[in-house]
Amino acid sequence: MNPLNPFAPPPQVVTVALNPALDHTITIADLHLGVVNRALRMQVDVGGKAINVASCLSDFGINAAVTGQLGRDNAALFEELFQRKKIANHCCYLDGLTRINTKLVDSERGETTDLNMPGPEFTPAAAADLLAQIVERLERLVEQVEWVVLSGSLPPGMPEDAYATLTTRVQARGGAVLLDTSGAPLRAALAAGPRIVKPNRHELADLVGAPLDTLDAVIAAGRSLLAGAAAPEWVVVSLGGDGALFLSREQAVRAEPIAMAVTSTVGAGDAMVAGLIAARLENLALAEAAQLATAFAAAKLTRIGPHLPRPAEVRALAQQVVVNVLA
Ligand SMILES: Nc1ncnc2c1ncn2[C@@H]1O[C@H](COP(=O)(O)OP(=O)(O)OP(=O)(O)O)[C@@H](O)[C@H]1O
Ligand SMILES: [Mg+2]
Repeated sequence: MNPLNPFAPPPQVVTVALNPALDHTITIADLHLGVVNRALRMQVDVGGKAINVASCLSDFGINAAVTGQLGRDNAALFEELFQRKKIANHCCYLDGLTRINTKLVDSERGETTDLNMPGPEFTPAAAADLLAQIVERLERLVEQVEWVVLSGSLPPGMPEDAYATLTTRVQARGGAVLLDTSGAPLRAALAAGPRIVKPNRHELADLVGAPLDTLDAVIAAGRSLLAGAAAPEWVVVSLGGDGALFLSREQAVRAEPIAMAVTSTVGAGDAMVAGLIAARLENLALAEAAQLATAFAAAKLTRIGPHLPRPAEVRALAQQVVVNVLA
């Protein structure tokens, strides 16, 4: 299937961006509401979880494709990233703008105020039409590609079972889904049996309806997802600065985080998702996958945006990750 950018290499992985975003970061000294503020500068970055995952995979030398939706009116920066990182562009173009998330950085107080847009509002007919187009693209892509990453929130008006539908259709054609979302879309898609899920602690707590204050509570909640016929092969629960748990039916390990000079924690989970895919493409066992995925996350912490250092540096970090087998 030909991408919109014809020179992108054939993909090894597809990520699905149903609600991508542009981040506008505006720096202001001493921000006040209700008055005119003179901003110092603005930086525009391409964002959205699925695009972050594809970007990290590309930095590690894994060919990725992105499908999903982009607003025609500000697609250029996404296209530039796809071109630069050799990511195959299989997005559907819609009228209007891709949503813009604005971050107001007060450089004197060291505070950031986020104004996140919900994304384009879909009518039931428009949502069904977009999903049908994405299903068609995914069904063709999984003829060549095994792994499909479904990650991020759904735009308003998109049915809560959109990821469940995509999971079922992809896996019926022999693909494997890694799911990273929250709330009702996570709950609905789990029933469709994605191969890997990566909630963070809060997303898992919300799913099981318990606070998960202790590590034992997180382990028990993670293990509860491994029961039943549609259970994932791996459940990975990321714990921010406390590392992550990697659970399968046979084994449970905890990977300690690497102490890094943190520049930005935004998208650390997305980098971890990319690392899990890299691990599966290399057929790594759970403990080695935990090391590689944790190294991806740690490597991302040192930079702003979804970018990794050279693959050799990431692999060197993986060697440092301490993994403890849990009883
Ligand atoms: N402050 C930190 N110090 C060291 N490692 C960290 C830190 N924050 C995150 N990490 C690493 O990144 C991994 C993923 O982070 P986290 O649990 O915050 O994901 P997340 O909440 O899904 O993030 P996002 O969705 O914003 O990408 C953690 O398991 C850990 O290995
Ligand atoms: Mg996350």
